[in-house]
Amino acid sequence: MNEQEIVGWLRETDETRLEELWKRADNTRKKNVGDAVHLRGLIEISNHCTRSCGYCGLRAQNTKIERYRMEPDEILECANKAKEFGYGTVVMQSGEDLAIASGWVAALIRRIKEETGLAVTLSLGEREEQELTRWKNAGADRYLLRFETSNRALFDKIHPPLGEKPCDRIALLKQLKHLGFETGSGALIGIPGQSYEDLARDIMLFAELGLDMIGCGPYIPHPETPLASEMETALAGGDETQVPNTELMAYKVIALARLVCPRANIPSTTAIATLNPARGREFGLERGANVVMPNLTPVKYRALYEIYPGKACITETADACAACLRGRIESIGRQVGTGRGDSMNYLLRS
Ligand code: 5AD
Ligand code: FES
Repeated sequence: MNEQEIVGWLRETDETRLEELWKRADNTRKKNVGDAVHLRGLIEISNHCTRSCGYCGLRAQNTKIERYRMEPDEILECANKAKEFGYGTVVMQSGEDLAIASGWVAALIRRIKEETGLAVTLSLGEREEQELTRWKNAGADRYLLRFETSNRALFDKIHPPLGEKPCDRIALLKQLKHLGFETGSGALIGIPGQSYEDLARDIMLFAELGLDMIGCGPYIPHPETPLASEMETALAGGDETQVPNTELMAYKVIALARLVCPRANIPSTTAIATLNPARGREFGLERGANVVMPNLTPVKYRALYEIYPGKACITETADACAACLRGRIESIGRQVGTGRGDSMNYLLRS
């Protein structure tokens, strides 16, 4: 698909045509990755962050949140729970927390691998190549780092560099892939100042990078961030080029991501479930997605990991999310995946 065709779908409003898009995405998903829905247990290990992203509630300047960092034993307890629930993977995510030292993470990875044998995914932000290598050697399998937007000027605006060091997530993604990680990325949908062409190029970049995993969700304004007020202006302005941060736009991106990267693992994300708690997860799974990420974070920390307000599953326990998602998967005639659920793209590459 070229940029024009993708923009055409992103701007499509005709319901019959959209049904066609959903069907094409769903068939492509079925043919390439099957009916299994893989579960990834998400552990939000720290909400400390040194960065100043314009969109994210964990940004360093937000003094209104209480900060936490989980202890290794607490994290291990979550990983053991993941195993008990039949998840094949744990995802450890945090803000860009420089107090999370590379040796600390490496030791943690080793313990999780030894005690549970689960696949380990890291989502710890932009880190040094040395650290990434060390984590790979310790047994980490996958790394997630969204590039957020392929529009360089927009990215620089919403993601100021840290000190002198320029920041190039696309180069880092290539490095991750080179190090042998199953590599995941994705974009935010409806950032103020994001055009339809920008978003189309994001989707084309998924294919160019040959991503193994693609996670996308609508941008949800957080009141304690600078971008939130811009969103009001962007929407009130009636700007025809601005991508809306809607549920529908998120499904279009999932469907198009599936069409350009047929073998990738694509989650139906929490941000979509936040916009539509009743049916969002299911719609995502029926429009191209094949993964969900149940939250394993202990309840006392969940509310503190508020990257955006109203985040789904903030009061539920790990047990509740496990049961909830199984039920949702079965309600649409799909099965819960067994095993690690590695990306088909990665398996064929290596
Ligand atoms: N709305 C939606 N998604 C957000 N993220 C961060 N802040 C927000 C927000 N306000 C997403 C980013 C990040 C991922 C972990 O969460 O895309 O990469
Ligand atoms: Fe957490 Fe449904 S996934 S309550």
